[in-house]
Amino acid sequence: MLRYWIRLIAPLVMAMLGLSPVQAETLTASSPDGTITLTVTDDGGHASYAITHEGREAITPSRLGLLFRDHHGFERDLAIAQVTRASHDQTWEQPWGERRLVRDNHEELAVTFASTTGPDRSITVRFRVFDSGVGFRYELAEQDAFTGPLAIIDELTQFSIGADADAWWTPSRQFNRYEYIYRTGTAGSVDDAHTPATFRKPNGVHIAIHEAALVDYSAMSLLALRPGSFEAALRPGSDGIKVHTSAPFKSPWRTIQIAPDAVGLINSDIILNLNEPNKLGDVSWVEPGKYVGIWWAMHIRERTWGNDGIHGANNADTMRYIDFAADHGFSGVLVEGWNIGWDGDWFNNGELFDFTQSYPDFDLPMLSAYAADRGVRIIGHHETSANVANYEAQMEAAFDLYAANGVREVKTGYVADAGDVVRINDAGVRTYEWHDSQFMVGHHLRVVEAAARRRISINAHEPVKDTGLRRTYPNWMTREGARGMEFNAWGSPPNPPEHEAVLAFTRMLAGPMDFTPGIFDLRPNERPPVREDMQRGDPSNRPQTTLAKQLALYVVLYSPLQMAADLPENYEARPEAFQFIKDVAADWEDSIALQGEVGEYVAIARKSRAAQDGEGEWFLGAVSDASARDLAIPLTFLDPGKRYTAQVYRDAADAHWDTNPYAMVIEEIPVTSADTLSARLASSGGLAVRFVKQ
Ligand code: NOJ
Ligand code: CA
Repeated sequence: MLRYWIRLIAPLVMAMLGLSPVQAETLTASSPDGTITLTVTDDGGHASYAITHEGREAITPSRLGLLFRDHHGFERDLAIAQVTRASHDQTWEQPWGERRLVRDNHEELAVTFASTTGPDRSITVRFRVFDSGVGFRYELAEQDAFTGPLAIIDELTQFSIGADADAWWTPSRQFNRYEYIYRTGTAGSVDDAHTPATFRKPNGVHIAIHEAALVDYSAMSLLALRPGSFEAALRPGSDGIKVHTSAPFKSPWRTIQIAPDAVGLINSDIILNLNEPNKLGDVSWVEPGKYVGIWWAMHIRERTWGNDGIHGANNADTMRYIDFAADHGFSGVLVEGWNIGWDGDWFNNGELFDFTQSYPDFDLPMLSAYAADRGVRIIGHHETSANVANYEAQMEAAFDLYAANGVREVKTGYVADAGDVVRINDAGVRTYEWHDSQFMVGHHLRVVEAAARRRISINAHEPVKDTGLRRTYPNWMTREGARGMEFNAWGSPPNPPEHEAVLAFTRMLAGPMDFTPGIFDLRPNERPPVREDMQRGDPSNRPQTTLAKQLALYVVLYSPLQMAADLPENYEARPEAFQFIKDVAADWEDSIALQGEVGEYVAIARKSRAAQDGEGEWFLGAVSDASARDLAIPLTFLDPGKRYTAQVYRDAADAHWDTNPYAMVIEEIPVTSADTLSARLASSGGLAVRFVKQ
């Protein structure tokens, strides 16, 4: 406290005596292994930080601060008034995930900056320095200068990367939310990017910027201040205010993952570590699994969501899918288009959705009972077309109905242009909000909590981005939030060959994605139309991958609810390839990203969680961009001294996504952990392997 007063009064005394101002204070903290060093300073009266990795620049000096509409903010005339430090090393267990045990090992530095010009006020920035990056957040304590409602109009957090770094990002504040083809260029060419955004500096340091624990705040994008130097741009509400809050409050964590190579970004757990522990208690009812669904049929115009003669959600088709799921070991059957509201222009008619009324040809109680008899359950669907007002009014009843029918997972959807979310505000006025606004951040948690009360889990499409809240709310299992498989039905253009090799190092750093892999008919729009008025889409919309790559996606793109997205008949036509989808796990004891370069290729090994009476199995997935390449993967992750049969699904020598995508070799090879598995990945090819202990 004395130090605080000295620092406050010192500049005045010095000025009176005609002396130069107090020297800035500079603090440092290093990660437990010493590779990452954080520097924090009040130089020039500004709060700022910088980060190095093994002595190489990662983030060059970057400012911190917050501005409010009706209160003095924290931008200049700041001095470090208090510092606390702590060390932390604990391992915690996930109910499901990429790995069961997660180590949280970090050094903490909490720095309180006080205003040197009054009114008397201070803000704390809490930094946590891990071996794989840094997280920090703002904490505003209760204090006289901040009584009553607080309106945040700007967060001044900067991330100075450097204009010459390579960058992979999707544009922010565009109509299609997060669903864009990734852009590749220099950091200097990024103007406003969603996070996670990934960078590779000329000195080899890899960086991914994102956030953790986005609760009661709006999402951040990266707005270029100068080429390669970004400021946290918070998404405003329809009233222009970025965040409505009051003291005390804590911002989400700003996360900077840092690694010497690309796979180091994937192998980092800092986002989960910066989230709060499970708040739901017993979550044994949250169950990872694989599912099929009445879904792709609509996207390739085989069926419709609405009720017009080829309505997808009919009893006969649903029973056929249930039978297929039961016969092949899937736990769920998603059914879209089951409820009233899909007829006509559903994209724009969100107010017409009724979440408790089925179409007459869909008998939910009968179908749920039929599914239960066969050891399968229906996965529910709530498409809102982003009319959140209409959905929230019906939400409790909607979940009650599903719970009464044994539904344990619900896919939600918010199809609408970005910025067109319909809200009825407290004054009863209709407003339009962004999908990543504070309002939607709150809405998603209201849904997750309402679902949790009925032991239902959520898979959100057109969501707000993932910030690791699955740790706190383990029933928020997966989500979309990037271009998924659906774009290969109608995307014009479809996802390019490098798409999944970019996703692994960008979107997937945030958390699981319901990408919906496993398309086996790779030219779906060349099927004859089912009805004359149902012409297929543009045939150039098709998965630009080999068949082996479709299999590899089950390992590469993690989701605890993993779909086998194609029509049952397309799986029945290729039973040998389908076997891998039947065998692969959806919940993991451990995951290791082994090799890769952002946007070029990636190889990931995962060990499944042990069945009650057995041991987990290792799987390997690798995908390539448009370049064919030879991989040599040392199998050091396998148990030493044990013999395995590697069931390998690989591209044939003459495979190519465009001209020969089905050419795949399935073979069994005896291996041990001392072996190296060599395989050639075709252009947009893949490799999928299951290791069975001998
Ligand atoms: C968009 C979702 O991503 C897709 O999976 C779903 O089928 C449609 N909306 C309709 O809800
Ligand atoms: Ca979508």
